[in-house]
Amino acid sequence: MNTDMLIVGGDGDLALRKLYPSLYYLELNNCMPENTRIIGMARTGQTREEFLVKVKEWLKANVAAELFSEEKWESYSQKIFFAQGDATNAESLGKVREEFLGEGNQLVVYLAIPPLIFGKVCNALEGCGLAKETTRLVVEKPLGDSRESFIAINDELARTFPEKQLFRIDHYLGKETVQNLIALRFANDIFEPLWNSRYVDSIQITVSEEVGVGNRWSFYDQTGATRDMVQNHLLQVLCLTCMEPPAVLDADSVRAEKLKVLNSLKMIEGEEVLKDTVRGQYERGMVGGKEVPGYLEEESDKYEIDPNSQTETFVAIKAEIQNWRWSGVPIYLRTGKRLRGRHSEIVVHFKQSKHKIFQENHENHASNRLIIRLQPDEGIRLRVMNKVAGLEPGIPLESGCLNLWFSDKKEIKTHDAYSRLLFDVLRNDQTLFVSAAEVEAAWKWVDTIFAGWKSTGMKAEGYPAGSIGPVAANELLSRDGREWHEIEPRD
Ligand code: BG6
Repeated sequence: MNTDMLIVGGDGDLALRKLYPSLYYLELNNCMPENTRIIGMARTGQTREEFLVKVKEWLKANVAAELFSEEKWESYSQKIFFAQGDATNAESLGKVREEFLGEGNQLVVYLAIPPLIFGKVCNALEGCGLAKETTRLVVEKPLGDSRESFIAINDELARTFPEKQLFRIDHYLGKETVQNLIALRFANDIFEPLWNSRYVDSIQITVSEEVGVGNRWSFYDQTGATRDMVQNHLLQVLCLTCMEPPAVLDADSVRAEKLKVLNSLKMIEGEEVLKDTVRGQYERGMVGGKEVPGYLEEESDKYEIDPNSQTETFVAIKAEIQNWRWSGVPIYLRTGKRLRGRHSEIVVHFKQSKHKIFQENHENHASNRLIIRLQPDEGIRLRVMNKVAGLEPGIPLESGCLNLWFSDKKEIKTHDAYSRLLFDVLRNDQTLFVSAAEVEAAWKWVDTIFAGWKSTGMKAEGYPAGSIGPVAANELLSRDGREWHEIEPRD
């Protein structure tokens, strides 16, 4: 069936920086369904030719040079159109419908606009007959800044579109290694017997960023790392790491299992935030050999910088899932900006047996660790103990690793997280999209932490840019006799 993808906010940052380049990857991989048309809609007046020049420029800036070809651009650009209009106005949308959308075509509407106007666009889509039973609506974060505000936003969408037609993007679910978690866990039976509190000591999920807040200080100051990263990306990764095997691999089953995890998260209430969470804010420091300003010294894009802002650019949380499989296993989450490097990892630490037979050097006897690296080098590493080769007496040990690096595979480099997700929207597969119930449950957990920070007046602790975060984050683990797993060189 022919498909029309209408991108509302089609001339904005998200569309130019992410969506058109990701759709280009679909073209490159010959995955764009036949007869797909992409219609960028914006208020600004411009001709199709002018629009295409802009899209091409952004594409070249965001796609690896070796992946750009004039030939592919030629076929891709034939699918792109520009529609001027106001998507909050039914009449204006009606004109777009007449001029650009094929009757009987499948319609995907991507709202690359602030949530504030989602409701109005939905009404306008309904008003001009575009909110059909087959229309799919794609939205992405920020979906509110609390459970309450999310419900308000979602109600506006749900008035026009049932859940089956709503695709909420969390781009982490489009990352290759995040999906590979499902394969690793459920296509390799050897892990399942070990994947529980009997054998797992603790789990760490780290998303470390080198970048600062860039040119979005005003947005970020209202948001912070917990709302920007934990509520969505880190909790989604936690869900896939810890959920029960779904009965079948379809959207309803996977989303139901993730929801159970979110609903089993132990609430961190009141004064518990003082021991189970850490807030940090970056200060002036060195990143990549260059001096960079602190968070409060950045240039603001809009609002004046509040010198007393306690917005956290770093957060660490000791979470726990209270269910049969995981009770008692700490799950340490941490994410921050202006840290030592850009890397994201899930590390599963396995327990050690209490009885040691390697007496002489049992201190070197580290526990087994399964490291699932999401970026920069996607892959899996299993840390195991080996005998040191040679004639030393006894069985001296050293830690070694089994590596499986997906980043060496060529296919992985020819698409990105968004292309995978857009592909799934076009295929009408919701498995990698987040349900309303999940978003709501995640907000409920995060809201409680914010309430605790407020009631205790807990402040953000400074950390130098380029470091591994505030000292308190190390104490969070050392109190439990553990330490953070820091990134290891690849080989
Ligand atoms: C976004 C956040 O959702 O994810 C950004 O708003 C963050 O602040 C980004 O930088 C990180 O994504 P990635 O894919 O670079 O890890």
